[in-house]
Amino acid sequence: MKSIGIDIQHAVFFAEKQYEGNQAAAVEAFEKLHNGNGEGNDFLGWLNLPSSISADLLDRINKTAARLRENCDYVVCVGIGGSYLGAKAVISALSDNFADFYGPQPKNPKVLFAGQNIGEEYTAELEKLLDGKKFGIIVISKSGTTTEPAIAFRILKELLEKQAGKDAAKDLIVAVTDEKKGALRTLATQEGYETYVIPDNVGGRFSVLTPVGLLPIACAGFNIEKLVAGAAEMEKTALRPGEDNPCEIYARMRNALYQSGKKIEILVNYNPKLHYFAEWWKQLYGESEGKDSKGIFPASVDLTTDLHSMGQWIQDGERTIFETVLSVKEPAITRRIPEDAANLDGINYLAGKRIDEVNKMAELGTQIAHVDGGVPNIKITLNKLDEHTLGQLIYFFEKACGVSGYMLGVNPFNQPGVEAYKKNMFALLEKPGYEKETEAIKAKLK
Ligand code: PA5
Repeated sequence: MKSIGIDIQHAVFFAEKQYEGNQAAAVEAFEKLHNGNGEGNDFLGWLNLPSSISADLLDRINKTAARLRENCDYVVCVGIGGSYLGAKAVISALSDNFADFYGPQPKNPKVLFAGQNIGEEYTAELEKLLDGKKFGIIVISKSGTTTEPAIAFRILKELLEKQAGKDAAKDLIVAVTDEKKGALRTLATQEGYETYVIPDNVGGRFSVLTPVGLLPIACAGFNIEKLVAGAAEMEKTALRPGEDNPCEIYARMRNALYQSGKKIEILVNYNPKLHYFAEWWKQLYGESEGKDSKGIFPASVDLTTDLHSMGQWIQDGERTIFETVLSVKEPAITRRIPEDAANLDGINYLAGKRIDEVNKMAELGTQIAHVDGGVPNIKITLNKLDEHTLGQLIYFFEKACGVSGYMLGVNPFNQPGVEAYKKNMFALLEKPGYEKETEAIKAKLK
């Protein structure tokens, strides 16, 4: 079942020539991906991941999740970047908007996140929340050496061991990391934690369909079989290049727009549950394409909320943007606008309509206004927000990203730029082994 569709009719006329001219480049990009002869070809494990995940692995993940759900009121996922955003995106998209305010239910823990920042208050306030509570930890790091999750894990591990005892804590901690390398693998082996492997050939931002994303998503109570099945369907749909392949259409359209001077892509949603999906998407495209002084800048807005803040810029600012709209066809709940006898707010003309009818007219009105204002509009329609659709959407964006990156002429699977801040931070913190860098940076700061 096809759960997502793409429509470029309100974008293509902005860059018709470029779009018509880049089909061969798209075909070449598909070939590079499938023949494995492009740059970064040692990171193509995500390409047939959905169709190759074993039922045994899914079963084991569900069992681990059931154990944590049974024994914890809170499960804290510790990780950053690709080891954080996929799970956060899917859980947010599938959860009640106010889930956090209901508190944990029996056998239905709250899934929280840590190690995705170095906020002292964030960490201390999380400790305060967990103080005296039943909690477990999923610590996720491919390299096993990332500073942010290492700090958070050290603190949470100490708290858990203090509260539950070292022996019991060991059964409440699960590590997701490299099969052999890294400090987290060593620690997990030493302490006897249950572990899951992040395949060598899957980079962080492409890892949501590995235990990195699947274990937290299962812990939150969602159906990972359906998520993977949706992704596997899109894997099949998007296998070969062709005018009806949604990944080709998207990759070609955004490259055509980029060539015509549209340097910023705004991922737009009209459903607040998709806020973190945009965060995941920004990492996927930002880290994959932003290199060699090239690449579309991926931005995002939540509408209609941000029409009252960013709307002015989008309508009238520098004409270097285009929009990709995620439009959910059918909300899961029906709520109609009531009639009011006094009608002081003047909205009785909406009485009896579903709230979503108003939302859809806001969406259409915005599309017309923005296109009239020179903002090309790509529309991606999702039938509904469920596991199956999200699986399709995840794989759609991943495949399109690989194609798009190769079309742009970069290696979409490395991220050399993210090391620069780390090197300086280590030098400033006088990390052993960084003595030369420390000296150099101190000289710079004089
Ligand atoms: O995409 C990436 O590679 C990064 O964003 C990483 O996912 C992030 O830095 C976390 O790395 P690790 O899983 O090694 O801790």
